Amino acid sequence: MERLQKIISKTGFASRRKAEELISKGKVKVNGEIITEMGYKASYDDFIEVNGIPLNKTEDKVYFLLNKPRGVVTTTKDEKGRKTVVDLIKTNKRIYPIGRLDYDTTGLILLTNDGELTNYLTHPRNKIEKVYVAKVEGIVIKEELKKLCNGVIIDGKKTGKAKAKILKIDKKNNTSVVELIICEGRNHQVKNMFKTINHNVLKLKRESVAFLTLDGVKPGEYRELTIKEVKKLYGEGN
Ligand code: URA
Repeated sequence: MERLQKIISKTGFASRRKAEELISKGKVKVNGEIITEMGYKASYDDFIEVNGIPLNKTEDKVYFLLNKPRGVVTTTKDEKGRKTVVDLIKTNKRIYPIGRLDYDTTGLILLTNDGELTNYLTHPRNKIEKVYVAKVEGIVIKEELKKLCNGVIIDGKKTGKAKAKILKIDKKNNTSVVELIICEGRNHQVKNMFKTINHNVLKLKRESVAFLTLDGVKPGEYRELTIKEVKKLYGEGN
């Protein structure tokens, strides 16, 4: 048995001080129960979660890059019995997706059992770039994209700096295709950003996360990341 903050810091997930802060804020669960007591001792066999991310203490780490097809949910289990991104990958490890893509969104999603990498890639401080291509209703103009790039207000909070460019305008069908690069991962962020400039997203695909792309990975297919790629991901933050 060891103090909870020591177990968390030993896995490299967070420093001891940061782990204590997370415990006091009620962000740590042991076997499904929130623990806020600082002297709490846990065992390495306990199921520990930090910020909802399972702490992986002993299992070998695995990393998958999936090209998510439409009609699949980005969770480990779906209460409605729909197919999940985890169902598409053959592994006996307890993996989960890093971040989220909507049911109807396609493209690049990473899955792992490495909580430390998940933490690193999803923390806004690390500014990991995600490239999306959106087909939207209506003809988008440059001034509208400028607004997206400077940040728009969603649920009372301004989005961070973004990059955007028009890839295609289809006047006949009254649609536009836009590339949008963001460093955050708020719920439905791309769709909500386009909503603020009055364009409905009709189709959305994530083309890349950091330096990783979908090259050679068809919809519904996946590949494992190389050790070199995993190391490089850790060095991506700005
Ligand atoms: N933004 C969205 O609106 N949906 C996604 O699936 C991903 C980003």
